Amino acid sequence: MAVPSLTLHDQTTIPQFGIGVWQVPPTDSERVVSEALELGYRHVDTAQMYGNEAGVGAAISASGLARDDVYVTTKLNNSFHEPAKARESLKRSLDELGLDQVDLFLIHWPLPTRYGGDFTATWAALIELREAGLTRSIGVSNFQPAHLDTIVQATGVVPVVNQIELHPYFDNPARPATLEHGALVQAWSPLGQGGGELTDPVITALADKHGKTPAQVVLRWHLDRGDIVFPKSTHRERLAENIDVFDFTLSDDEVTSLNALDKGEAGRTGPNPDTFDWIPN
Ligand code: A2P
Repeated sequence: MAVPSLTLHDQTTIPQFGIGVWQVPPTDSERVVSEALELGYRHVDTAQMYGNEAGVGAAISASGLARDDVYVTTKLNNSFHEPAKARESLKRSLDELGLDQVDLFLIHWPLPTRYGGDFTATWAALIELREAGLTRSIGVSNFQPAHLDTIVQATGVVPVVNQIELHPYFDNPARPATLEHGALVQAWSPLGQGGGELTDPVITALADKHGKTPAQVVLRWHLDRGDIVFPKSTHRERLAENIDVFDFTLSDDEVTSLNALDKGEAGRTGPNPDTFDWIPN
């Protein structure tokens, strides 16, 4: 069964499922993305910070697929929040990826304690990059509800997505705030980084019931809630397993039973965006 597409509020469409390449080493990214494309993936989520855009670009080019058939996202690194640097850095990403335009460009982290707290100027820079045609759509990542309110109030432009840490043990409170703005939610670490969720008895019981694996149940939970997911794996058999989630659905009660696994802040595995301030050298 085909991967569904969702319509973003700027009327472009995005495949609801793809491959994420966070923590895929640069030396592996071409192989991993090539295997994913062979298996039917048509959406790749990378970032300047991951250092593997060149491998992603090489895989897309080698695939022979038409440009319009692969959705490509990259993200602004933390060192390039000043508007002029944002533009330069996107041009460099396009060179690395071998593309004239990405489908989606995100501010990777809001960094509210850096740059005088002015992530709005960075957002305004992304608006210009979209107008210049270097990216088709623009969005944000790791934005807290207050950060979303700030940029929308200042510019009137709503990001098409907010990409946030989201998995059954961490039902990120930024999710409802994102949806209220009319943006879609993208889940990063959708499998909780292969941690406790995959052996949780509620999830393994649902996996047995549906004849699926725990990872497939977790991915289905995201999809059934209407969010966008791109699990990472460097293993072909897991890439195949993860895309094999379009022949079943969870009932409303089953979704609710997974919602109840939320541990609040204790379930967060990554940094808190309110305090995260890391800038690469
Ligand atoms: P690997 O790359 O060795 O396959 P997330 O996307 O939540 O960050 O999770 C990625 C982690 O989950 C990686 O450690 C990845 O390991 C592992 N993983 C990916 N797919 C599966 C799967 N189907 N079953 C178990 N673990 C998986």
